[in-house]
Amino acid sequence: MTNFISDNTFKYVNNFFNKKPKVAVVLGSGVKALEGLDNEAKLPYSEIPDFPRSTVAGHDGVISVGEYQGTSVAVLRGRFHKYEGHNWKNVISPVFLMQELGVTHIILTNAAGGINRVYTPGDLMLIEDHVNFHQMDKDERKALYQLIKEPRAASFYDSELNHLAKQAAKESKVTLHEGIYLSLPGPSYETRAEILAFRKMNIDAVGMSTAPEAIWAKAMGMKVIGISCITNSTYYENAMSETSHEEVVMVAKKASQDIDTLLKSVISKI
Ligand code: HPA
Repeated sequence: MTNFISDNTFKYVNNFFNKKPKVAVVLGSGVKALEGLDNEAKLPYSEIPDFPRSTVAGHDGVISVGEYQGTSVAVLRGRFHKYEGHNWKNVISPVFLMQELGVTHIILTNAAGGINRVYTPGDLMLIEDHVNFHQMDKDERKALYQLIKEPRAASFYDSELNHLAKQAAKESKVTLHEGIYLSLPGPSYETRAEILAFRKMNIDAVGMSTAPEAIWAKAMGMKVIGISCITNSTYYENAMSETSHEEVVMVAKKASQDIDTLLKSVISKI
């Protein structure tokens, strides 16, 4: 028990589902996948005592628990960002809750802008490592230090699981880049100058989530995978403004199908 979420929160969710999920999947903005699990039960965040509320469009704010091919899975549709005004405990609360429910493997997905020139909207990227631009306030830093005791250079993303994800992508014929994700606090998207700088820093994709959750999930002993859905290219010549609505809809649909296929394949291998 961590005491990062209230007893009321844990008891309510634990009693509601009465299951011990092994794998948790956090779905980022507009990422639609893993609909219709076997024996699925759904709990809106708004019904959970002392739990934060999603305020971002494209985030449903629902936890589903069910099975996929016999593996017990929790799917979190919606997360909390610092740019919404949430403090660090709110941002990490889905991870804390999953840990207390007994989850051992967490798959963090997000919508991200492609910095790598090769990436096009609709592509998927396995996060092999991240650069984290989120400030920790002193309470968060202290709580994290108390948990890990001994700071060490670390990869937050599990190499065995990454290997498994690459295998899953190959078998299910889904193209999966591997790259470095930059997590920014937002709320603005990047300036042209920032994009040029990030490209020089070997950043492949940029977004506003995932890194803080990955850091805490790893500190709590969970195995972490990160997957970015490239929703827009930050490359000037084919920027979003020049893309038609039909293309955007097609991109979103293809990316959702691919991530659904990939997630199912990964879960069946865990
Ligand atoms: N920048 C930051 N966050 C994002 C982007 C982007 O281009 N696309 C989706 N989330």
